[in-house]
Amino acid sequence: MDALSRDFFLFLSKNRGLNFMAKRWGKSIATGNIIGGIDFDSSIKHIQQLNKNGIQVTVDHLGEFVMDEQVARERTQECIRTIETIAAKNLQTQVSVKLTSLGLDIDMNLVRENMHEIMKVASAHNILVTIDMENESRCEATLELFRELKQQYEQIGTVIQAYLYRSEADLQDLNELQPFIRLVKGAYKESAQVAHTEKEDIRENFKKLIRKQLEGGNYTAIATHDDEMVEFTKQLVKEDGIAKDQFEFQMLYGMRTKTQQVLKNEGYNVRIYMPYGDDWYGYFMRRLAEKPSNISFALKGLTKK
Ligand code: FDA
Repeated sequence: MDALSRDFFLFLSKNRGLNFMAKRWGKSIATGNIIGGIDFDSSIKHIQQLNKNGIQVTVDHLGEFVMDEQVARERTQECIRTIETIAAKNLQTQVSVKLTSLGLDIDMNLVRENMHEIMKVASAHNILVTIDMENESRCEATLELFRELKQQYEQIGTVIQAYLYRSEADLQDLNELQPFIRLVKGAYKESAQVAHTEKEDIRENFKKLIRKQLEGGNYTAIATHDDEMVEFTKQLVKEDGIAKDQFEFQMLYGMRTKTQQVLKNEGYNVRIYMPYGDDWYGYFMRRLAEKPSNISFALKGLTKK
């Protein structure tokens, strides 16, 4: 895909007017195919289906860049309700959160307080919470809060993005915490000052990070739809004798569904990232930026009952 259309969709992903219209009129485009549903309850049947096939899930209540304290607190409570429902229904599901939806852009103390509330409940139910990584300008604060929370709670992980130059050093710094890390390429528009912009450079760095994290003995999620990264991981673990319970493959809900099942059948742990909620527009646009043909997944939703 050319850089121009990637930039175009990433530009659209931040348009507040379109986001507002999408929330009101576009639900059927996304629901059931690229997101679990417009609320957690309507996602449960999709989670149960995946669980039945031996595939685990991580759910994310869609929403980001919240600037209102009340909304950040409501999102915290929504996350807690979700954790309690996961526990009550015994779903094979973890939770992912975006710090900007919990108040990162408002006040560090607010997001810290909200994360402690979430982590107390998640720890009580032994459910892992992964802090998603957003744009580079939020990376330092995200890692700082992750480090702090990790001292207190075992059940927490975060994400490292292969496109950032800083990521190898970040992984090295975090190593002493023996962290759960999800490795991804990176989904935001970043400048060449902070990030690799060439596909092949990102792939090479991704491979370096996979090796570093796995050979460091840490539990690792390799989150990608890219066969080259999947094959690299399979080869590496075979050569190094790394056990299959030290890592998992993660993919997004609705993408490469056959590959997900093939990996599961080969004996690998597979987890699907399933977003839910009505604030799906920015997420959807980032998926289009990665691969415009992803629109076909969403359009299928229009013909579903
Ligand atoms: P990429 O899009 O680079 O595609 C590489 C190749 O894979 C393609 O050329 C094609 O061959 C194949 N392929 C890709 N998509 C396909 C499809 N739908 N069907 C068939 N073939 C396909 N980002 C971030 O910044 N912060 C985060 O916290 C997260 N979290 C996250 C969780 C999970 C579970 C996933 C899978 C991804 C993320 N991401 C993320 C997004 C991530 O950074 C990245 O933008 C996307 O995964 C796209 O990169 P890929 O490595 O998947 O392949």
